[in-house]
Amino acid sequence: MWPYPRTLAHRGGGTLAPENTLAALRCGLAYGYRAVEFDVMLASDGVPVVVHDPELGRTVAGSGRISDYTAAQLGTMEAGAWFGPQFAGEGVPTFDAVVAYCKAQRIWMNIEIKPAPGFDAQTGTMVACATRDYFAEEITAGELLPLLSSFSIAALEAAHQAAPELARGWLVEEMPSDWAKKAKKLDVVAIHCDHQQLTPELAREVKKGGYGLFCYTVNTPERASELLAWGVDGFCTDRIDIIPSMA
Ligand code: G3P
Ligand code: MG
Repeated sequence: MWPYPRTLAHRGGGTLAPENTLAALRCGLAYGYRAVEFDVMLASDGVPVVVHDPELGRTVAGSGRISDYTAAQLGTMEAGAWFGPQFAGEGVPTFDAVVAYCKAQRIWMNIEIKPAPGFDAQTGTMVACATRDYFAEEITAGELLPLLSSFSIAALEAAHQAAPELARGWLVEEMPSDWAKKAKKLDVVAIHCDHQQLTPELAREVKKGGYGLFCYTVNTPERASELLAWGVDGFCTDRIDIIPSMA
């Protein structure tokens, strides 16, 4: 039901490094995390890049939208200095570069498809196709693959259509009452929910339904233990410094 690691470093390195950068991945690894979650969006040239917000300004210096710039332009933009001067010079990495790093370091990936508004299906298709190409050998060998996930139904449907061999998780904030019907229709393997919206009853229901149950974003060891006792299979955390990585 959940063949994946239990603990994932959120956005690469949680809150210990600038999110969704190669520095974040290095930080996660330094804390012993060999499993990560990160966010993927399309640049103006259709190249998938790893970034959370559709607008520049918070983590990437500048203004405008991610979809206004090419991946090459975003790569030269400042995505580390906001976090600390020691990270100055980190650009927005391409999905390609992040996957290459993770594969080389044997880091497992939960790839969140994070479409900019209006690009849902296109992003789902591009990310799924790129992932399938990167993992062609692993698919043939029947090895453990990354898990795609998204809040966007259109992105999940497009990813399913483009690369049905890749498993998907459905990200939800509040679980709708007809979640089981929707999950079946989407053909997902896991429900990824906000842990603050989860109850022990809902956790039981999801597990009884045969789905993996993943929570975001769990930042205390006490809450992590509680959720695991409820049957939660895995979670991502910003606090890779106080929650030890579990296989
Ligand atoms: O994938 C789990 C979590 O990352 C979802 O929320 O906004 O941090 O991408 P967000
Ligand atoms: Mg995310």
